[in-house]
Amino acid sequence: MNFFKKQIDDSESWYEKRRRGIPLFWKRLGGIPSFNGLTVLDLGCDNGNMCFFIAKQGAKRVIGIDINAGSISFAKKKLEEQPKFKDKIEFICGELQKYNPGMKFDIIVSRDTFEHIINFNDVLNEVVRRLKPKGRLYVGFGPLWNSPYGGHGRMKMPIPWGHVLLPEKVLLKWVNLFYSKKFDSIEEMGLNRLALRDYERLLLKNPSLKTIYWKVNHGDRFLSRLFAKIARIPLLREYFSHDLYAVLEKK
Ligand SMILES: C[S@@+](CC[C@H](N)C(=O)[O-])C[C@H]1O[C@@H](n2cnc3c(N)ncnc32)[C@H](O)[C@@H]1O
Repeated sequence: MNFFKKQIDDSESWYEKRRRGIPLFWKRLGGIPSFNGLTVLDLGCDNGNMCFFIAKQGAKRVIGIDINAGSISFAKKKLEEQPKFKDKIEFICGELQKYNPGMKFDIIVSRDTFEHIINFNDVLNEVVRRLKPKGRLYVGFGPLWNSPYGGHGRMKMPIPWGHVLLPEKVLLKWVNLFYSKKFDSIEEMGLNRLALRDYERLLLKNPSLKTIYWKVNHGDRFLSRLFAKIARIPLLREYFSHDLYAVLEKK
């Protein structure tokens, strides 16, 4: 995931930008749940902004995990600056599958990360395993791969949906014109290319999870509302579905 290292600005301004977006994330999920006294995991915590928010909400313990070493060292620096959270928050660099296998969580939160998780099946299985019975997963992410800008700007596409229209080989030839590093797959660029129908199969229809909340195209801007309408047409649904917000409960 070196790609992320290059893209993400490990700076205060990036931290602030992400921090300011937290209320919208929870609004889109129907409100902030009670974290009081709970053990919480933030999967793909990046610079840790959400972990501090959750700790301030009264969580007993917050684990922030991310595979990007730069993000975690920034998060740790933020923790040094706020010693009152030192006994509550812990930042881990690595994969959830390898972290303290016995530890289970009341809540797992993941913002804008699912579309970047390459070995998604393995990670999701671990997420489900790590939830306590009746524990909840709060997740929101986008743009989805098949949406107009699902390439996250990394594909350098001058037209919407260009990354979906081009065969992978041609797309790679195109993107490799723009980067000094040569990419052999889109996954190497930090995008798993999962479609909405994949997330439906893996999350909505997951036999171990009960769906509490499921919303596609949550934006309230004009274009987002228009997309939500077009997405009702079955053949166009994949291509006009921009983001996904869900709350799932472990059965
Ligand atoms: C857009 S950032 C997430 C932002 C962050 N959640 C926030 O709210 O500000 C996506 C993050 O997912 C991380 N990531 C990708 N695959 C991961 C995995 N398998 N486990 C943990 N983190 C992962 C990346 O390193 C990156 O920091």
